[in-house]
Amino acid sequence: MSAKILDGKWVRDQILSELRPRIERLKQAHRPPGLAVVLVGHDPASEIYVRSKIKTCGELGIYSEKVTPADTISTEELLGIIEGLNERDEIDGILVQMPLPPQVDKQRVLVSVHPDKDVDGFHPVNVGNLVANHPGPRACTPAGIMEMLRRYEIPVAGKNAVVVGRSDIVGKPMALLLLHQNATVTICHSKTADLPGICRRADILVAAMGRPAFITADFIQPGATVIDVGMNRKPDGKLVGDVDPEAVQQLAGAYTPVPGGVGPLTIAMLMSNTVHAAEHHLC
Ligand code: GUN
Repeated sequence: MSAKILDGKWVRDQILSELRPRIERLKQAHRPPGLAVVLVGHDPASEIYVRSKIKTCGELGIYSEKVTPADTISTEELLGIIEGLNERDEIDGILVQMPLPPQVDKQRVLVSVHPDKDVDGFHPVNVGNLVANHPGPRACTPAGIMEMLRRYEIPVAGKNAVVVGRSDIVGKPMALLLLHQNATVTICHSKTADLPGICRRADILVAAMGRPAFITADFIQPGATVIDVGMNRKPDGKLVGDVDPEAVQQLAGAYTPVPGGVGPLTIAMLMSNTVHAAEHHLC
């Protein structure tokens, strides 16, 4: 039996089609949604992500603005930029692309974005909303994965879900979203004992630790759904996920390829969070 491929572009296109009429309504009644993206410095991966975010805004008719301070910027200067964006009525969402250079205090930056404009769901108020299962913006990549599971009708309730990686951007919010859908959730990390054994119990395995092709055959329960969040660039320029592609094709019931799996969903959910923020501000 060959594994089913979970197509991130198919899910993205559905999400974006559902947003178009909402954006049209906002434009007719008020103005288009507005997103400001702050990209500090020239990290090559961040530049690619930000370019796609701005391009998708353009295709949907979302107003977007890119702010690109030098990587020598101080925390105070960056806080000043964000404060200016917080005060502008036509900006509904503010995204500060991660990672930030080491001299910038990330925590102070994240709390400086007004929670209503926090389209990443990174502000502690919105992290609290997630933990308490209250409404609010959710981190885009985990939210996109939940959309993928829902639209492919992959059951979550009562399943064993294992999340490998405990980042604030993916691992932690992913675990909470799965928990809120009544999965039994285990979070693993670099100090976890018998990682392959724990992963083999997973009905849903989410690999989000940023180690190329680390998840091999002995981590995968036959028939499992395997979600690969990894985006590792090899020296030859090719993208490889955190999961070994051959192992997952042979063993999984369904899996997300790299590229074309999880990647497209992050931007779709950013657009969704931006439209939602605009509706909240205007309606
Ligand atoms: N860097 C990697 N992923 C993300 C994301 O979802 N949001 C932001 N702001 N930065 C990132």
